Amino acid sequence: MLEQKYLSGSSAVNIAGSVESAVAGGKLAAGDALPPVRSLAAHLRVSPATVAAAYRLLQDRGVVMADGRRGTRVRPAPPIAAPAETAIPEGVRDLSDGNPDLALLPDLAKRLRPAQRVYGDELNDPELLALAREHFREDGVPADHVAVVSGALDGIERVLREHLRAGDRVAIEDPCFTGALDLVTALSLVPVPVAVDDEGLIPSELRRVLPSCKALVVTPRAQNPTGAAHSPRRARELRALLASRDILIVEDDHAGPVAGIEYRTLVDRSREKWAVIRSVSKSLGPDLRVALLASDARTHARVEGRQTLGMRWVSHILQRLVVAIWRDRAPLRASRVYTERREALLRELRARGIAAHGVSGLNVWIPVAEESATVQAMLQKGWGVKAGERYRLASPPAVRVTISMLTPREAVRLAEDLAGILLPQRRRSGV
Ligand SMILES: Cc1ncc(COP(=O)(O)O)c(C=O)c1O
Repeated sequence: MLEQKYLSGSSAVNIAGSVESAVAGGKLAAGDALPPVRSLAAHLRVSPATVAAAYRLLQDRGVVMADGRRGTRVRPAPPIAAPAETAIPEGVRDLSDGNPDLALLPDLAKRLRPAQRVYGDELNDPELLALAREHFREDGVPADHVAVVSGALDGIERVLREHLRAGDRVAIEDPCFTGALDLVTALSLVPVPVAVDDEGLIPSELRRVLPSCKALVVTPRAQNPTGAAHSPRRARELRALLASRDILIVEDDHAGPVAGIEYRTLVDRSREKWAVIRSVSKSLGPDLRVALLASDARTHARVEGRQTLGMRWVSHILQRLVVAIWRDRAPLRASRVYTERREALLRELRARGIAAHGVSGLNVWIPVAEESATVQAMLQKGWGVKAGERYRLASPPAVRVTISMLTPREAVRLAEDLAGILLPQRRRSGV
């Protein structure tokens, strides 16, 4: 077995360390199999129990996963800095990355007035908290306790860490944002897929998994990748379903005011454990690394208490910047433009008989019979789109197109090119 030459050590800790080095050095990639326990044990002249212990350590750290009869494999996006994925070739229109349109993000330089602050000053900017409370309350989210964290994923991680333990099961949308999925597995939690349709989580599917789950991570709008958003009726149904359950609810409002649709929460004051995390990444820019986290009192105390021990606080340079931009309500125009672009693509696809999803947000999700063949064929035609595989647990194949920069005129060409690829595929697969 080729990988064995990178693996060394005589103790479980050393063997696990050599696997981590191989991943960090790009010698072992996501999906690669580790050697069977007995074969590596013979190669390293250690007992099989030592190798098994090394694999358990790696599994606990979220580096590898036991994959049934396929053995132990390196996880997608293990929690180790590793070489980046291959880039989209030059000259290809890249619609694969989920980014907002740079041209629709606010000019930061105009508003940047950094001031020095020292230890012992207020933890968070009072004006930022007041504005965030106003926004949360407008959306029916209780806002008695609001913290400032470094983005949606940072908030999700902090809340999950404070309430869950390794091995706990977390209900998660399927398909689902890869970042959330990777984070859940890196925390040694077990993702439990719940199918979504255009209105969000499907209640009967959620009901099935709820008894075994300690937490639910949900995206009430701009669901990535499908664009799903809670309809009023669906939100009511889901709230009723969750009412009698003592489950931690974590809502990820990563798109915030550029989602293009109202926010419909599943939480209320009667719940014991919950958090709603609203990031500014899509509306003001991913590099700001700012999100507002509303939660119940206990979650708030734990998250903020832990935060002040490590990172201490989110820089007030960033907090003031968000206040300055929020004051002029710039994101509203961006939201309109994204909606136009999303709807233009959906319209062009529909006109060519291609079903697609994208009620809100920055992406359109298009079911296909053959994911990688479609991505390759689109590359040939000059379009970079994302294969759905990394987003899916049990849901069927699709590709994701980020619409944030796709003009309505380009949408016509893209739909034509995609139709030219998908229609023969459909004839071949008989659908
Ligand atoms: C559903 C979802 N949640 C969270 C994020 C990341 O948000 P943040 O940059 O605030 O961590 C993304 C990024 O695309 C996303 O799609």
